[in-house]
Amino acid sequence: MTQTSTADSTAASPAMVKAEGVHKSFGSVEVLKGIDLEVRSGEVFCLIGPSGSGKSTFLRCINHLEKINAGRLYVDGELVGYRQKGDKLYELKDSEVALKRRDIGMVFQRFNLFPHMTAVENVMEAPIQVKGLRRAEAHLRAMDLLERVGLADKAGNYPSQLSGGQQQRVAIARALAMDPKLMLFDEPTSALDPELVGDVLDVMRDLAESGMTMVVVTHEMGFAREVGDSLVFMDGGVVVESGNPRDVLTNPQQERTQSFLSKVL
Ligand SMILES: Nc1ncnc2c1ncn2[C@@H]1O[C@H](COP(=O)(O)OP(=O)(O)O)[C@@H](O)[C@H]1O
Ligand SMILES: [Mg+2]
Repeated sequence: MTQTSTADSTAASPAMVKAEGVHKSFGSVEVLKGIDLEVRSGEVFCLIGPSGSGKSTFLRCINHLEKINAGRLYVDGELVGYRQKGDKLYELKDSEVALKRRDIGMVFQRFNLFPHMTAVENVMEAPIQVKGLRRAEAHLRAMDLLERVGLADKAGNYPSQLSGGQQQRVAIARALAMDPKLMLFDEPTSALDPELVGDVLDVMRDLAESGMTMVVVTHEMGFAREVGDSLVFMDGGVVVESGNPRDVLTNPQQERTQSFLSKVL
C-alpha cells in the first residue's frame, strides 16, 4: 500500500476516530484490507473513491453496525465493540453497543424519515424514546434544530410534503437531536436533484463551522476542497492516498487517484 501522509497531522487535537489495520470481510470477500487513518476532533474528514471501494462499510464499522475482523478501531479513544482489560478484549453486549451508537449521528443517501410523522416529530422521536426527554422540551429543542437547518416553517409537514433536500435537512436535524460527538455522512447529496444539493451542503458547512467532527463520504469535490480538512481516496478496500483536500484534488500523487479524479472532476 502506498500512502502519503497528511501534511499537518500534528498531535494538536485528539483523534476522534483512529483505525489501525482495519479488516472487514463478508464471507470470503475481503472488503476492507487494512485501513489506517485518523480523524482528529473538530475536523471535516472527506472520504472519496469509486463505488464498491468500501466507503460505506467503513462508516458502518465506525458506527458499530459492522464488526471488524482484524485490526483496531477507536472512537473517542475507546475501542469500537470491545472493552479492553489489561491485554484482553471483551466483546460488548448489544445494549452497551447501542449506548455507544447514540453518540454518533449518521446521515444516509436516503433520508429514512418516519413517513407517518411530521418533520418536528421526526426530530423529537429519539430524544423522547431513547433519552427520556419530556415532550415539551423535546419539541423546543427540535424547533431550534429545524430553525438551524432552515426549516422551522416546515415543522408540521410530513416527509411526503417535503422536497428531497428538505427531507435530508430534517434527517440532519434528527441526527443532531441526540447531541452526537461525531457525525457520519454517507453520500448525503447523491440522491438529490442538482438544484437541491446546495442547501444541504450549506447546512453541512454551518455544522462544520460550529466545530462538529464530521466524516463525509461524498462526490462533491467542491465541498471537499472548500470545507474539508483532510481527504482520503480509497480504492479496493485500501487507502490509496490522503492529505489536505486542496493538495490531493489538484495534485494527486498516485496513478489510481489521478484516474479516478479525471472521471469525476
Ligand atoms: N452486507 C454485505 N454483505 C456482502 N457484501 C457486502 C455487504 N455490504 C457491502 N458488501 C460489499 O462490499 C463492497 C464494498 O461495499 P461498500 O462499502 O458499500 O462500498 P462503497 O460505499 O465504497 O460503494 C461491495 O463489493 C459490496 O458488494
Ligand atoms: Mg457507499
